[in-house]
Amino acid sequence: MAHAADQHHDTALNALFPQPPPLGSNHDCWRLELVRMRVAHNHDLVTQLPCARLAHALLRGGSMRVLAVVGQKGGIGKSTTAMNLAACMSRSSSVAVIDVDPQASTTKWAERAGENLPFDFTSETDISMLSLMRQLDYDVVIVDTPGSLADQHVLSALLDQTDYAIAPLSPSFMEIEPVQRTLQDFVIPRGIPYRVLMNKVDLRDGKGDLESFEELLDTGSFFDGQVGIPRFKNYIRQAKVMKMMPLQGTVITDYSDTRNSRAAISDYTSVALELMNLWARERKTA
Ligand SMILES: Nc1ncnc2c1ncn2[C@@H]1O[C@H](COP(=O)(O)OP(=O)(O)O)[C@@H](O)[C@H]1O
Ligand SMILES: [Mg+2]
Repeated sequence: MAHAADQHHDTALNALFPQPPPLGSNHDCWRLELVRMRVAHNHDLVTQLPCARLAHALLRGGSMRVLAVVGQKGGIGKSTTAMNLAACMSRSSSVAVIDVDPQASTTKWAERAGENLPFDFTSETDISMLSLMRQLDYDVVIVDTPGSLADQHVLSALLDQTDYAIAPLSPSFMEIEPVQRTLQDFVIPRGIPYRVLMNKVDLRDGKGDLESFEELLDTGSFFDGQVGIPRFKNYIRQAKVMKMMPLQGTVITDYSDTRNSRAAISDYTSVALELMNLWARERKTA
Protein backbone atom coordinates (compact mmCIF):
# COMPACT_ATOMS: atom_id res chain seq x y z
CA MET A 1 0.00 0.00 0.00
CA ALA A 2 1.27 3.46 -0.84
CA HIS A 3 2.51 5.53 2.05
CA ALA A 4 0.13 8.40 3.00
CA ALA A 5 2.86 11.03 2.54
CA ASP A 6 3.55 9.64 -0.96
CA GLN A 7 -0.14 9.90 -1.79
CA HIS A 8 -0.11 13.49 -0.60
CA HIS A 9 2.90 14.21 -2.81
CA ASP A 10 1.17 12.51 -5.75
CA THR A 11 -1.99 14.58 -5.34
CA ALA A 12 0.05 17.76 -5.14
CA LEU A 13 2.14 16.76 -8.15
CA ASN A 14 -0.97 15.97 -10.16
CA ALA A 15 -2.34 19.39 -9.32
CA LEU A 16 0.87 20.96 -10.55
CA PHE A 17 1.21 18.84 -13.69
CA PRO A 18 -2.38 17.84 -14.50
CA GLN A 19 -1.83 16.46 -17.98
CA PRO A 20 1.04 14.03 -18.32
CA PRO A 21 2.23 13.84 -21.92
CA PRO A 22 0.61 10.83 -23.64
CA LEU A 23 3.59 9.51 -25.62
CA GLY A 24 7.16 8.75 -24.54
CA SER A 25 6.23 10.19 -21.18
CA ASN A 26 8.91 12.09 -19.35
CA HIS A 27 6.40 12.92 -16.63
CA ASP A 28 8.26 10.71 -14.17
CA CYS A 29 11.37 12.69 -14.90
CA TRP A 30 9.58 15.83 -13.73
CA ARG A 31 8.33 14.12 -10.62
CA LEU A 32 11.84 12.97 -9.87
CA GLU A 33 13.05 16.47 -10.51
CA LEU A 34 10.80 17.93 -7.85
CA VAL A 35 11.89 15.29 -5.38
CA ARG A 36 15.50 16.12 -6.19
CA MET A 37 14.83 19.81 -5.70
CA ARG A 38 13.52 19.06 -2.23
CA VAL A 39 16.76 17.36 -1.37
CA ALA A 40 18.93 19.97 -3.07
CA HIS A 41 17.28 22.93 -1.42
CA ASN A 42 16.59 21.12 1.83
CA HIS A 43 12.94 22.05 1.44
CA ASP A 44 10.08 19.81 2.30
CA LEU A 45 8.12 19.04 -0.87
CA VAL A 46 4.93 19.33 1.14
CA THR A 47 5.71 22.95 2.00
CA GLN A 48 6.89 23.78 -1.49
CA LEU A 49 4.06 22.33 -3.50
CA PRO A 50 1.08 24.07 -1.94
CA CYS A 51 2.73 27.37 -3.01
CA ALA A 52 3.07 26.11 -6.55
CA ARG A 53 -0.50 24.80 -6.46
CA LEU A 54 -1.67 28.16 -5.20
CA ALA A 55 0.23 29.86 -8.01
CA HIS A 56 -1.43 27.51 -10.46
CA ALA A 57 -4.89 28.23 -9.09
CA LEU A 58 -4.27 31.97 -9.04
CA LEU A 59 -2.92 31.97 -12.57
CA ARG A 60 -5.95 30.05 -13.80
CA GLY A 61 -8.47 32.08 -11.89
CA GLY A 62 -7.02 35.50 -12.58
CA SER A 63 -6.29 37.65 -15.56
CA MET A 64 -3.62 36.92 -18.09
CA ARG A 65 -0.03 38.11 -17.61
CA VAL A 66 2.30 39.37 -20.31
CA LEU A 67 5.89 38.47 -19.51
CA ALA A 68 8.60 40.08 -21.66
CA VAL A 69 12.13 38.69 -21.89
CA VAL A 70 14.28 41.75 -22.52
CA GLY A 71 17.86 42.89 -23.13
CA GLN A 72 19.30 45.09 -25.85
CA LYS A 73 22.10 42.75 -26.65
CA GLY A 74 22.12 39.66 -28.83
CA GLY A 75 23.22 36.31 -27.49
CA ILE A 76 22.36 36.77 -23.81
CA GLY A 77 19.67 34.08 -23.86
CA LYS A 78 16.37 35.90 -24.42
CA SER A 79 15.01 33.36 -26.90
CA THR A 80 16.33 30.39 -24.93
CA THR A 81 14.72 31.74 -21.75
CA ALA A 82 11.38 32.53 -23.42
CA MET A 83 11.02 29.10 -25.02
CA ASN A 84 12.13 27.01 -22.05
CA LEU A 85 10.26 28.96 -19.38
CA ALA A 86 7.17 28.69 -21.60
CA ALA A 87 7.69 24.93 -21.80
CA CYS A 88 7.94 24.60 -18.01
CA MET A 89 5.00 26.88 -17.29
CA SER A 90 2.84 25.09 -19.86
CA ARG A 91 2.85 22.07 -17.50
CA SER A 92 0.43 23.90 -15.23
CA SER A 93 -0.84 26.91 -17.19
CA SER A 94 -2.00 27.82 -20.67
CA VAL A 95 0.91 29.57 -22.33
CA ALA A 96 1.62 31.32 -25.61
CA VAL A 97 4.94 32.65 -26.86
CA ILE A 98 5.04 35.63 -29.21
CA ASP A 99 8.20 36.44 -31.12
CA VAL A 100 8.33 40.17 -31.79
CA ASP A 101 11.97 40.11 -32.94
CA PRO A 102 12.11 41.00 -36.66
CA GLN A 103 15.11 38.66 -36.90
CA ALA A 104 12.65 35.84 -36.19
CA SER A 105 15.17 33.31 -34.89
CA THR A 106 12.66 31.98 -32.36
CA THR A 107 10.07 31.67 -35.10
CA LYS A 108 12.43 29.40 -37.02
CA TRP A 109 12.98 27.39 -33.84
CA ALA A 110 9.22 27.04 -33.38
CA GLU A 111 8.74 26.06 -37.02
CA ARG A 112 11.25 23.24 -36.58
CA ALA A 113 9.30 22.07 -33.51
CA GLY A 114 5.97 22.20 -35.35
CA GLU A 115 3.18 20.39 -33.55
CA ASN A 116 5.54 19.19 -30.82
CA LEU A 117 5.66 22.51 -28.97
CA PRO A 118 3.80 22.21 -25.64
CA PHE A 119 2.50 25.80 -25.95
CA ASP A 120 1.07 28.02 -28.68
CA PHE A 121 3.42 30.16 -30.70
CA THR A 122 3.07 33.12 -33.03
CA SER A 123 5.20 35.96 -34.36
CA GLU A 124 4.10 39.57 -34.59
CA THR A 125 6.09 42.66 -35.47
CA ASP A 126 3.16 44.89 -36.44
CA ILE A 127 3.08 47.36 -33.55
CA SER A 128 -0.62 48.06 -33.96
CA MET A 129 -1.36 44.37 -33.39
CA LEU A 130 0.60 44.20 -30.12
CA SER A 131 -2.13 46.04 -28.23
CA LEU A 132 -4.49 43.14 -29.04
CA MET A 133 -2.23 40.79 -27.15
CA ARG A 134 -4.03 41.44 -23.87
CA GLN A 135 -7.25 40.05 -25.29
CA LEU A 136 -5.74 36.59 -25.79
CA ASP A 137 -7.14 33.81 -23.68
CA TYR A 138 -4.02 32.47 -21.97
CA ASP A 139 -2.73 32.43 -18.40
CA VAL A 140 0.67 33.66 -19.54
CA VAL A 141 1.91 35.24 -22.76
CA ILE A 142 5.71 35.20 -22.94
CA VAL A 143 7.21 37.63 -25.41
CA ASP A 144 10.65 37.22 -26.94
CA THR A 145 12.02 40.67 -27.80
CA PRO A 146 14.63 42.03 -30.21
CA GLY A 147 18.21 42.65 -29.10
CA SER A 148 18.94 45.16 -31.82
CA LEU A 149 18.85 48.88 -31.04
CA ALA A 150 17.27 49.38 -34.48
CA ASP A 151 14.09 47.72 -33.20
CA GLN A 152 13.58 49.90 -30.12
CA HIS A 153 10.14 51.00 -31.34
CA VAL A 154 8.93 47.37 -31.22
CA LEU A 155 10.35 46.96 -27.73
CA SER A 156 8.69 50.17 -26.54
CA ALA A 157 5.29 49.24 -28.00
CA LEU A 158 5.48 45.82 -26.42
CA LEU A 159 6.53 47.07 -22.98
CA ASP A 160 3.46 49.30 -22.87
CA GLN A 161 1.48 46.02 -22.71
CA THR A 162 3.80 44.18 -20.32
CA ASP A 163 3.14 43.07 -16.72
CA TYR A 164 6.53 41.60 -15.85
CA ALA A 165 10.02 41.66 -17.37
CA ILE A 166 12.89 39.21 -17.17
CA ALA A 167 16.39 40.27 -18.20
CA PRO A 168 18.84 37.39 -18.74
CA LEU A 169 22.36 38.22 -17.59
CA SER A 170 25.60 36.29 -17.86
CA PRO A 171 27.43 36.52 -14.54
CA SER A 172 30.25 38.72 -15.74
CA PHE A 173 30.95 42.31 -14.77
CA MET A 174 31.05 43.44 -18.42
CA GLU A 175 27.54 42.14 -19.05
CA ILE A 176 25.83 44.27 -16.42
CA GLU A 177 25.98 47.59 -18.24
CA PRO A 178 23.78 46.71 -21.27
CA VAL A 179 21.19 45.09 -18.99
CA GLN A 180 21.28 48.10 -16.68
CA ARG A 181 20.70 50.36 -19.69
CA THR A 182 17.71 48.36 -20.95
CA LEU A 183 16.11 48.41 -17.50
CA GLN A 184 16.88 52.10 -16.99
CA ASP A 185 15.62 53.22 -20.41
CA PHE A 186 12.64 50.94 -21.00
CA VAL A 187 11.46 48.98 -17.98
CA ILE A 188 11.85 51.15 -14.87
CA PRO A 189 10.21 54.29 -16.38
CA ARG A 190 7.08 52.21 -17.07
CA GLY A 191 6.99 50.86 -13.52
CA ILE A 192 7.09 47.27 -14.75
CA PRO A 193 8.18 44.79 -12.06
CA TYR A 194 11.30 42.93 -13.21
CA ARG A 195 14.07 40.57 -12.22
CA VAL A 196 17.37 39.68 -13.81
CA LEU A 197 17.96 35.99 -14.44
CA MET A 198 21.53 34.78 -14.34
CA ASN A 199 22.11 32.64 -17.42
CA LYS A 200 25.07 30.62 -18.75
CA VAL A 201 26.35 30.20 -15.21
CA ASP A 202 29.58 28.20 -15.21
CA LEU A 203 30.16 26.29 -11.96
CA ARG A 204 33.11 24.21 -13.15
CA ASP A 205 35.47 26.14 -10.85
CA GLY A 206 33.04 26.13 -7.93
CA LYS A 207 30.52 28.67 -6.70
CA GLY A 208 32.96 31.41 -5.61
CA ASP A 209 32.61 33.61 -8.70
CA LEU A 210 28.84 33.22 -8.74
CA GLU A 211 28.53 34.21 -5.09
CA SER A 212 30.70 37.32 -5.61
CA PHE A 213 28.54 38.27 -8.58
CA GLU A 214 25.34 37.75 -6.59
CA GLU A 215 26.71 39.98 -3.86
CA LEU A 216 27.53 42.65 -6.42
CA LEU A 217 23.97 42.46 -7.82
CA ASP A 218 22.47 42.62 -4.33
CA THR A 219 24.56 45.46 -2.93
CA GLY A 220 25.78 47.50 -5.93
CA SER A 221 24.45 50.89 -6.86
CA PHE A 222 22.95 50.60 -10.34
CA PHE A 223 19.90 52.85 -10.24
CA ASP A 224 19.19 56.08 -8.38
CA GLY A 225 17.64 55.58 -4.97
CA GLN A 226 17.89 51.80 -5.04
CA VAL A 227 20.36 49.27 -3.68
CA GLY A 228 21.06 46.31 -5.96
CA ILE A 229 19.12 44.83 -8.89
CA PRO A 230 16.20 42.47 -8.16
CA ARG A 231 17.21 38.97 -9.26
CA PHE A 232 15.92 35.42 -9.31
CA LYS A 233 17.49 33.32 -6.59
CA ASN A 234 17.59 30.41 -9.01
CA TYR A 235 19.75 30.60 -12.13
CA ILE A 236 20.37 28.77 -15.40
CA ARG A 237 23.66 26.97 -15.74
CA GLN A 238 25.58 26.76 -18.98
CA ALA A 239 24.56 23.52 -20.65
CA LYS A 240 25.42 22.05 -24.04
CA VAL A 241 21.91 20.73 -24.51
CA MET A 242 20.65 24.30 -24.85
CA LYS A 243 22.72 24.92 -27.96
CA MET A 244 21.03 22.05 -29.81
CA MET A 245 17.45 23.06 -29.11
CA PRO A 246 16.84 25.77 -31.76
CA LEU A 247 18.19 23.53 -34.53
CA GLN A 248 16.45 20.40 -33.34
CA GLY A 249 13.20 22.23 -32.65
CA THR A 250 13.10 21.01 -29.05
CA VAL A 251 12.43 22.56 -25.64
CA ILE A 252 13.58 21.39 -22.24
CA THR A 253 10.39 19.46 -21.45
CA ASP A 254 11.11 17.18 -24.44
CA TYR A 255 14.15 15.72 -22.69
CA SER A 256 14.22 12.85 -20.26
CA ASP A 257 16.42 12.94 -17.21
CA THR A 258 19.90 12.09 -18.46
CA ARG A 259 23.35 13.29 -17.50
CA ASN A 260 23.30 15.90 -20.30
CA SER A 261 19.89 17.41 -19.65
CA ARG A 262 19.55 17.05 -15.87
CA ALA A 263 20.94 20.48 -14.92
CA ALA A 264 18.83 22.34 -17.49
CA ILE A 265 15.61 20.55 -16.45
CA SER A 266 16.29 21.34 -12.82
CA ASP A 267 17.22 24.99 -13.49
CA TYR A 268 14.20 25.90 -15.63
CA THR A 269 11.84 24.06 -13.27
CA SER A 270 13.23 26.04 -10.34
CA VAL A 271 12.97 29.39 -12.11
CA ALA A 272 9.40 28.69 -13.31
CA LEU A 273 8.35 27.77 -9.75
CA GLU A 274 10.10 30.82 -8.32
CA LEU A 275 8.27 33.08 -10.77
CA MET A 276 4.86 31.52 -10.11
CA ASN A 277 5.43 31.81 -6.37
CA LEU A 278 6.40 35.48 -6.77
CA TRP A 279 3.21 36.15 -8.72
CA ALA A 280 1.10 34.26 -6.20
CA ARG A 281 2.55 36.30 -3.35
CA GLU A 282 2.03 39.54 -5.29
CA ARG A 283 -1.67 38.75 -5.73
CA LYS A 284 -2.11 37.83 -2.10
CA THR A 285 -0.75 41.20 -0.99
CA ALA A 286 -2.50 43.18 -3.77
N1 LIG B 1 22.29 28.48 -20.35
C1 LIG B 1 22.84 28.32 -21.56
N2 LIG B 1 23.80 27.37 -21.76
C2 LIG B 1 24.37 27.21 -22.95
N3 LIG B 1 24.07 27.92 -24.04
C3 LIG B 1 23.13 28.87 -23.92
C4 LIG B 1 22.46 29.13 -22.69
N4 LIG B 1 21.57 30.14 -22.89
C5 LIG B 1 21.68 30.50 -24.19
N5 LIG B 1 22.62 29.74 -24.80
C6 LIG B 1 23.08 29.82 -26.20
O1 LIG B 1 23.54 31.16 -26.44
C7 LIG B 1 23.19 31.57 -27.74
C8 LIG B 1 22.35 32.85 -27.68
O2 LIG B 1 21.12 32.56 -26.99
P1 LIG B 1 19.75 33.21 -27.45
O3 LIG B 1 18.69 32.68 -26.56
O4 LIG B 1 19.56 33.03 -28.93
O5 LIG B 1 20.05 34.74 -27.13
P2 LIG B 1 19.26 36.06 -27.59
O6 LIG B 1 17.86 35.66 -27.91
O7 LIG B 1 19.38 36.97 -26.42
O8 LIG B 1 20.01 36.58 -28.78
C9 LIG B 1 22.44 30.40 -28.39
O9 LIG B 1 23.36 29.63 -29.13
C10 LIG B 1 21.94 29.60 -27.20
O10 LIG B 1 21.80 28.24 -27.50
MG1 LIG C 1 16.72 35.98 -29.64
